[in-house]
Amino acid sequence: MTEQSEILNYLKTKSLNLSFIDKLKVTYRPLICPFGLLLKYVEKDKSVFDIGCGSGQFCALIAKFTAATRIHGIEISEKLVSNARAINQEFEDNKKITFEVFNGSIIPDGINQYKIIYMIDVLHHIPKNKQEYFLKEIYSKMASGSRLILKDIDAGHPFVHFNKIHDLVFSKEIGNELTLQFAKNMVESIGFKIIEKFNITTFIYPHYFLILEK
Ligand SMILES: C[S@@+](CC[C@H](N)C(=O)[O-])C[C@H]1O[C@@H](n2cnc3c(N)ncnc32)[C@H](O)[C@@H]1O
Repeated sequence: MTEQSEILNYLKTKSLNLSFIDKLKVTYRPLICPFGLLLKYVEKDKSVFDIGCGSGQFCALIAKFTAATRIHGIEISEKLVSNARAINQEFEDNKKITFEVFNGSIIPDGINQYKIIYMIDVLHHIPKNKQEYFLKEIYSKMASGSRLILKDIDAGHPFVHFNKIHDLVFSKEIGNELTLQFAKNMVESIGFKIIEKFNITTFIYPHYFLILEK
């Protein structure tokens, strides 16, 4: 597994021409989000899709620390897509790495060309009444046999309130976190096969992982 120190060192030494807040988020996010653990799901797969890729630092970690050769990130914010392109410029010559703005509800058809799909801390930013529709949309468009790595914050853990405060400060949102059990029932009813599910807490952030296959 890629060590957190390696990830932090890489992001810290990268020269980033971003706003102060975006730079802070990109550089220090690995302290609260278990990127090292998430990276191991790329394994031997060469194509990776990242839904809600933010400023693209996780895509940069995939490019830097895994064998993936084709990486595509989608995001609702144009500014973050432009950050993602800048952060990943160093890989342009060796990997096919692309970013695209999308409307937050219709997943691009091209997702069916990717084996591993990530959705990291995005579900709780989607309104509660649209979350199931969003996951159904992903399921309907992804290829059979491909995997969705769904990582979010567990509403069943009392520390969920730290994430709500975090989101209020950084995103001016209160967050629509689900419990692991609720999320599991939802994805199963959509048709996903559950390969793995577990919780981990980093610092004061309670995460759940659902490794899903179509
Ligand atoms: C906490 S950030 C996570 C970013 C990135 N996945 C990471 O782990 O570094 C949540 C991201 O979800 C994006 N987002 C919010 N609503 C979304 C939606 N409906 N569809 C896709 N992305 C969305 C936000 O713009 C933001 O970049």
